[in-house]
Amino acid sequence: MDAEAHHPALLTLPSGHELPALGLGTWRMGESRASHAAELEALRLALDIGWRAFDTAEMYGDGGAESLLGEALAPALRAALPREALYVVSKVYPHNATREGVVRACERSLRRLRLDHLDLYLLHWRGNVPLHETVAGFERLQQRGLIRHWGVSNFDREHLLDLVDVPGGAACSANQVWYSLSRRGVEFDLLPWQRSRQMPLMAYSPIDQGALLTAAPLREMAQRRGVTPAQLALAWLLHQPGVMALPKSSHGLHLQQNWGAAQLKLDAGELARLDQAFPPPTTKQPLAVG
Ligand SMILES: NC(=O)c1ccc[n+]([C@@H]2O[C@H](COP(=O)([O-])OP(=O)(O)OC[C@H]3O[C@@H](n4cnc5c(N)ncnc54)[C@H](OP(=O)(O)O)[C@@H]3O)[C@@H](O)[C@H]2O)c1
Repeated sequence: MDAEAHHPALLTLPSGHELPALGLGTWRMGESRASHAAELEALRLALDIGWRAFDTAEMYGDGGAESLLGEALAPALRAALPREALYVVSKVYPHNATREGVVRACERSLRRLRLDHLDLYLLHWRGNVPLHETVAGFERLQQRGLIRHWGVSNFDREHLLDLVDVPGGAACSANQVWYSLSRRGVEFDLLPWQRSRQMPLMAYSPIDQGALLTAAPLREMAQRRGVTPAQLALAWLLHQPGVMALPKSSHGLHLQQNWGAAQLKLDAGELARLDQAFPPPTTKQPLAVG
């Protein structure tokens, strides 16, 4: 496949920098020796297909997912792939997110990833460390060139309002939350708020960890259109302005299919049928957490 010809759309961060609207998740990868070779192969295939944005975390496999990703990226970077073509996202545990702790955690993540900087570094969820401390740590990392941007994850609108109130907090570049056809609560107030600040919403578990794929209306519509349910679910997310979709797969065919979802155009009738089957929220709902 000609990767260049099929790149997904780009989203613009508040800084003006761009981020691909489709990225590959790595949760539950790098957890066992038994699956190592197959997962490494899957990540290499992903790079061949054209995937350029990768989402990981120090939590995943206790660093195992970062190490695996680093192992896949290193030969590609040594060969022809320019570092600027990649978009690597990782996350810090809340209990590591003190002013100094966040710096040390990032240095460990970079060592595992074999990279000299991250494109985006997220606070995985809100913990007990005061937000101003975490932001100070992120700023330190930016000054040292170890991260380009920082953001948060699992923050609802109220948490983001707290965040933008602390010194430097308004520089938050992205928020990563659970968002899928069957988890549309964020559309009530979080997504509109993020859009008003040009802060991309990174949709995790975009196919509900696989569970969405058996939903009858999705299957029927996908069959009618001649695509897979995963492609339809991802294409729907990619039609939402300011949203990045982050499906995980370590399966070759799924990686190809999910990549193809970025080329799938849905018409107004199809979007309306999806709204009917998976209605948008009419009231505030608690943030879904994975
Ligand atoms: N910030 C957070 O708190 C948070 C929480 C959860 C997830 N995340 C991020 O978001 C990423 C994605 O979320 P997720 O892993 O929870 O769930 P997901 O991407 O919604 O679903 C992954 C599951 O779907 C399967 N799958 C993927 N593509 C498929 C296809 N085309 N056809 C059939 N099955 C398919 C995968 O199996 P195969 O591997 O066999 O394809 C895997 O079992 C994570 O990996 C992680 O990077 C972040």
